[in-house]
Amino acid sequence: MNDELFIQRCFDLARLGLGSVSPNPLVGAVLVHEGKIIGEGFHQRWGEAHAEVNCVRAVSPENQYLIPYSTLFCNLEPCAHFGKTPPCTDLILEQKIPRVVVSNTDPNPLVAGKGLARLQKAGVEIKQGVLEEQGSWLNRSFFTWITENRPHVVLKWAQTADGFLGKKDARTAISGSTALRLVHRWRAECDAILVGSNTALLDDPRLDVRHYFGEKPLRIVLDTKGKIPPSHHFFDDSAETWVYGNSMKGKSFSNTKFISSGDRILIPNILEALKIADRAILLLEGGANLLNQFLESGDWDEIRVIQNKQRLDEGVPAPQLPANVIIKEQFQVEDDLVRIFTR
Ligand SMILES: NC(=O)c1ccc[n+]([C@@H]2O[C@H](COP(=O)([O-])OP(=O)(O)OC[C@H]3O[C@@H](n4cnc5c(N)ncnc54)[C@H](OP(=O)(O)O)[C@@H]3O)[C@@H](O)[C@H]2O)c1
Ligand SMILES: [Zn+2]
Repeated sequence: MNDELFIQRCFDLARLGLGSVSPNPLVGAVLVHEGKIIGEGFHQRWGEAHAEVNCVRAVSPENQYLIPYSTLFCNLEPCAHFGKTPPCTDLILEQKIPRVVVSNTDPNPLVAGKGLARLQKAGVEIKQGVLEEQGSWLNRSFFTWITENRPHVVLKWAQTADGFLGKKDARTAISGSTALRLVHRWRAECDAILVGSNTALLDDPRLDVRHYFGEKPLRIVLDTKGKIPPSHHFFDDSAETWVYGNSMKGKSFSNTKFISSGDRILIPNILEALKIADRAILLLEGGANLLNQFLESGDWDEIRVIQNKQRLDEGVPAPQLPANVIIKEQFQVEDDLVRIFTR
């Protein structure tokens, strides 16, 4: 029971890295001596110290003598290889930590279990698989990135109670202001946002994070026919932007890249380009046409639907949820019901 409690604490700490560590995993670590936390830390930024290092560093000088009598809790197996930082298994052995409890092993089959095996061989007591399912859900985008070798794809839309995305040919606000903040948080937590040309043309979205905090993600639009006017937000150069379409004459850009291609862009090509650019989480914000393409091809990992109480009676129909989706989260935000589905 206590093991679960402290792994739960690791999840809470790990979550603080959302929006800053991708494509690395979200990791939290806690050092516990006789039921009391003496140090905790998390992986704060891609390329910087791992959670275990920050956790050990956080132990106060007067408590450091307790480390060799404590348990290290960590939601992901400590690394055993030299990456941007030295292996955490070295640190654990140096500090003579006698017991390590983890939730998930590393999803990469080439390294899975190696960190734990190394510790076990050196005499460290190991417990693994604590709240494993919760740990995998927390790190779902990292797991997709490693096991599928492509970005984690999140489809998102807001719909009315009677199943519409909006009015035909008019920008329609569907969700309330708190749900809007939630969407901006999701934006801050992803690496790239994709929309179709009709959405960019009609809604003129900024795709930024002005109602939350964090970095603006890369924004991408499929505009092979050059329908979006230069005055639209997509061409304001205020964030890194990819436009699948021809370059715009008479306007210079520093953050905007034009990718020339045929009329029809294939989803795997977009995912491949994102992979090469190290963008591990793609949020698809519509419209119906593009969402349905991803649903039909099966190129999705997660679906987030915000459903408001208002009715429209007619308009652009919301996509149909695929059969057999599993609901993972459901909560109410004022008048909006938020549901998160997976396969
Ligand atoms: N409620 C919500 O959450 C939400 C979110 C977003 C949008 N919306 C609403 O949805 C409506 C727009 O949806 P929509 O279905 O008409 O359009 P859309 O999905 O935004 O854009 C579709 C267009 O994008 C281009 N496109 C899509 N896939 C492509 C591909 N594979 N290769 C090249 N180009 C591709 C095509 O334009 P071309 O071939 O003509 O270039 C296509 O006609 C608007 O009313 C908007 O307000 C609602
Ligand atoms: Zn590590």
